[in-house]
Amino acid sequence: MNEPLHVWLDADPGFDDYMAWALLEADPRFVVDGVGVVAGNAPLERTLSNALRIKALHGLATPVYAGCDRPLAQAQVTAQDVLGENAMKSVGRTLPAAQAALSPGHAVDALIAHVRAHPQQVVLLAIGPLTNVATAFMRAPELPGLLKCLVLMGGSTDRGNATAVAEFNIAADPEAAQCVFDAGIEVLMFGLNACRQVEVGPEHVALLRHDGGEQALLFADLLQAYTELIPGRQRMAVFDPTPVAWLANPAWFGLEPARVDVELAGRLTRGMTVCEFRVPRRAQANALVAMQADGDAVMDWAMRTLRGFLARRV
Ligand code: RIB
Ligand code: CA
Repeated sequence: MNEPLHVWLDADPGFDDYMAWALLEADPRFVVDGVGVVAGNAPLERTLSNALRIKALHGLATPVYAGCDRPLAQAQVTAQDVLGENAMKSVGRTLPAAQAALSPGHAVDALIAHVRAHPQQVVLLAIGPLTNVATAFMRAPELPGLLKCLVLMGGSTDRGNATAVAEFNIAADPEAAQCVFDAGIEVLMFGLNACRQVEVGPEHVALLRHDGGEQALLFADLLQAYTELIPGRQRMAVFDPTPVAWLANPAWFGLEPARVDVELAGRLTRGMTVCEFRVPRRAQANALVAMQADGDAVMDWAMRTLRGFLARRV
């Protein structure tokens, strides 16, 4: 087997962040070198508590660091109106209260030190607001050039979810997102348009309930609540795990080069990712934007991988 892919995860747990992290830990092709936690789905205190509970529950060795607790230049917005107080709704079981130890130091400093120590070897996967990532790039301008690649769940080439046109991770810190798209590194962008081609539903919940075991049943309760987030529906797009699936098998996706900028001034459009695909004729590309996803292949892999992870005895 080839050398595993080293991944630094920047996240705002959130259930789909949990699912993405679990997939990275479960698949032997990945090594998670660190998790930087950022405010997003909920204030940092809560996203950090969720991360340390996940770490404790699964007995993970991965260090977890506290990151930025507010956006660069706007008031904090969260997704608690949709996801609930703890940013992780459940139809029953919830994450046990036990928390693992937090690693010392700020997530931004830990990210900078780690990438400097392992040049061209680390994939930075950002699945929350980009405040930590932008702060790291501002503090260490050489950092983008030292990364193996930068992959993010965020933005959209069409409809938004935080607003009519803005996706939550970008809308939660638009200035940070623009800083990242301007950092001189090609951004691999998995937006809502691609993630909405990957759906989770009752059939996936049933698989976990059939497996049984405390961890699978807990995950099933969280997953079922996630599938029911939109009133009247029992299916939901899979956001944060989608770029993880691309790392596992890029052949499941179609990506196109584009110049991506973030609207910062629009009264109705602030936080929108404006994607110019007429590159290089009309603009210099700064991103590869996911446009197609094989949702069935992604979910087959995701459920196979998750079921193995949740069956592990800690
Ligand atoms: O828009 C989806 C994104 O917002 C996901 O990362 C989800 O966890 C929330 O952070
Ligand atoms: Ca997230």
